[in-house]
Amino acid sequence: MYREHRERLLDELAREGAAAVMPTATLKVRNHDSTYRFRPDSDFWYLTGFAEPEATLVLLGGLPAAEDEARREPRSILFLRERNPEQETWTGRRLGTEAAPAELHVDEARDADGLWKALPDLLAGYERVHYRTGLDEERDREMLGVIDSLRQRSRTGTPPVAELVDPATLVHELRLFKSLAELDCMRRAASVTGEAHLAAMRAAAAGVGEQELDALIEYTVRRRGCTGMAYTNIVAGGANACILHYIENDQPLADGDLLLIDAGAEHQFYAADVTRTFPVNGVFTDEQRALYEVVLEAQLAGIDEVRPGVRFDRAHEVATERLVAGLLRLGLLQGDAEQLISDGEHRRFFMHRTGHWLGLDVHDCGAYADEEGDSRLLEPGMVTTVEPGLYVAPDDETVEEHWRGIGVRIEDNVLVTAEGNEVLTADIPKTVENVEAACAGRDLDAVPS
Ligand code: GLY
Ligand code: MN
Ligand code: MN
Repeated sequence: MYREHRERLLDELAREGAAAVMPTATLKVRNHDSTYRFRPDSDFWYLTGFAEPEATLVLLGGLPAAEDEARREPRSILFLRERNPEQETWTGRRLGTEAAPAELHVDEARDADGLWKALPDLLAGYERVHYRTGLDEERDREMLGVIDSLRQRSRTGTPPVAELVDPATLVHELRLFKSLAELDCMRRAASVTGEAHLAAMRAAAAGVGEQELDALIEYTVRRRGCTGMAYTNIVAGGANACILHYIENDQPLADGDLLLIDAGAEHQFYAADVTRTFPVNGVFTDEQRALYEVVLEAQLAGIDEVRPGVRFDRAHEVATERLVAGLLRLGLLQGDAEQLISDGEHRRFFMHRTGHWLGLDVHDCGAYADEEGDSRLLEPGMVTTVEPGLYVAPDDETVEEHWRGIGVRIEDNVLVTAEGNEVLTADIPKTVENVEAACAGRDLDAVPS
């Protein structure tokens, strides 16, 4: 799968007569001398399937007029850490340059320590180089040094690098369309995510801590061999659900409250991104159910708009219309629906977008607009979330007291297919009836086996 991705990019580079330098992520310090577990850069992973730090992929599109025959063809070179038994005792196993070509199907593997020294020779003759600046100052300085040394060489007839371009335009457009193999990873992430949400529904009860469910979700995901969570879990009881990025997850759950959980597994670094909202005690109150049904109707209507040839924004427009109609029906808004939407009055209750691309990053790459700036038409292979919500602030005195502090979001992951769509997360309980049934067997020890 990764080799195929790399070859697709190499084809583009060959067409452009360009080269690309794609480093992975840098290890991040958490505090003092403790680091976070390493997570590769998504573009780098997409092109290599290689998860060690300190690696860089160099792709050469080929120079048809080069004297040296070896430089005429497209070529991939991976710079990675050399084997070092002493270091490996401390920081873990390394693939090393000898094993890398067979393991990763790159044309060549070299010691990462030699990257900056080797680059001027490798890039000589390429007038267009793809490299993303702004992620690491030291690396940017080294890269500028390489470009400068190539400029010096131009006196001897080698054309200097004239354009340093962001690889994002090419790579991110490729990443937007998921192959069957990538979809297998996303399906696995979706199914494990379902298991985790179900475990949380069963385990929730008054007095249980948000942090217990946070841990239960991560446990359920990691025991299935996933690479981790795709983003920090949101486990928000009661009015905490009205804080969109609530990640403290440290409050006890209260009887009679709703619980909003936004959590997704990451399998082979491919994300799921799912939200479910359910009653802590397993039974919706009338007000909770009324708002929930409005969000659910908006979400189903939004999902219906996910099909080829429909603008990306359409799901948001339709979901917003349904939410506003529901708010009018319930008396949380008054007036004319169209006017309220054009005045942005609904944003008091629904302040985010209805979806985003999903893939190796939870808010995945890929343009949302076409070259004219219009919302892009959906095509098979794209994956988007559909996630409307309603959040009534606990201090909102424009609505009756019994609505205050209720927050509901329902989020699924939807693949655009040739015929319409496929909801990758369809198995996770969502109707009032199914959610209440899933909550019914609550027991914190009942982690599904
Ligand atoms: N979990 C982030 C989002 O739903 O967009
Ligand atoms: Mn989410
Ligand atoms: Mn989302």
